[in-house]
Amino acid sequence: MWNINRTYLPDFESTFERLYDKQAMLSKNRPLSNSALSKIKEALSVEWTYNSNSIEGNTLSLQETQMVLQDGITIRGKSLREHFEAKNHEKAINYLYSIINEDYNLRSIDILSLHGYVLRTIEDDFAGRIRNGGVRISGANFVPPNANKVSDLLDELVNFINTNPLGMNDIELATIFHHKFVWIHPFFDGNGRTVRLAMNLLLMKKGFPPAIILKNDRKKYYEALNQANNGNYQKLILLMCQAQERTLNIYLNALPDNEEEYDTISNIVSEPSSPYGQEYISLLARQGKIDAYKEGRNWLTTKKAIDNYIENRQRKRLL
Ligand SMILES: Nc1ncnc2c1ncn2[C@@H]1O[C@H](COP(=O)(O)OP(=O)(O)OP(=O)(O)O)[C@@H](O)[C@H]1O
Ligand SMILES: [Mg+2]
Repeated sequence: MWNINRTYLPDFESTFERLYDKQAMLSKNRPLSNSALSKIKEALSVEWTYNSNSIEGNTLSLQETQMVLQDGITIRGKSLREHFEAKNHEKAINYLYSIINEDYNLRSIDILSLHGYVLRTIEDDFAGRIRNGGVRISGANFVPPNANKVSDLLDELVNFINTNPLGMNDIELATIFHHKFVWIHPFFDGNGRTVRLAMNLLLMKKGFPPAIILKNDRKKYYEALNQANNGNYQKLILLMCQAQERTLNIYLNALPDNEEEYDTISNIVSEPSSPYGQEYISLLARQGKIDAYKEGRNWLTTKKAIDNYIENRQRKRLL
């Protein structure tokens, strides 16, 4: 099962590097205590629940999912099961958050617990239990292994992740875990939802925000898994990187801009490289067109804010 072709690596090196830079920037700002950031965490839990359940066929919209989770509202016309799926998934996320900081590595028992939360009261007979019979995945180009192999294969996978014998980075490792897990298909149902939780346990333990596979990418996701079944991880890695970068950006955009050096406009425009004069930049600042604030009589901004403005304008011109 460990025939892993890593020829994709050179293409992805700069992407991995960028993701690690962003993760480092985020870690530097931890603990993320302000209320804006805890709102992001809540919103992402709703998004994560909506997307993961909706890939599986749940018809609650993002907004309905939010109403069910945050306001306890029952949506007319939607089944009890769909409501339970949303609430269960949220409980699974909460459980996941509760074990992120434990110092043990990934354990099979945590995966079973996550699965237990996902299927509780919906399919109680299966919740938290490995399958004891065969399964098929519709549209897949292979048949998952025999039920009597599942337990050993799962242990082997967990061990592979914890020992990381090929020296992979966290994102590769989470990707391989994701694929090998659904390849084993340890459960009768709920494999997808469980693996999308468990892979984030791995990533979040390493300081990444949750990577959320979007409902809109369902087709790409299934194609990527079929390619991975043939030993080609290009598409799946790319999808994982994109999912990871999206949530990294959401957090980074909300951080107080303590990276940036604010300076008076007169100082910034005195640099020879500055394309604009003081009058014009001051006007942009006053009009709220660039990131700037007033201190005493002076407007302060950053070189980057000006660069961003220029870039955006150029982009608009090209459209
Ligand atoms: N071609 C494939 N090869 C390997 N795994 C696949 C393939 N197609 C789908 N899968 C995985 O199987 C999962 C579906 O399995 P299962 O129905 O047990 O999980 P679920 O959580 O109930 O549903 P879903 O994952 O669709 O939300 C998919 O989410 C995906 O992760
Ligand atoms: Mg299913």
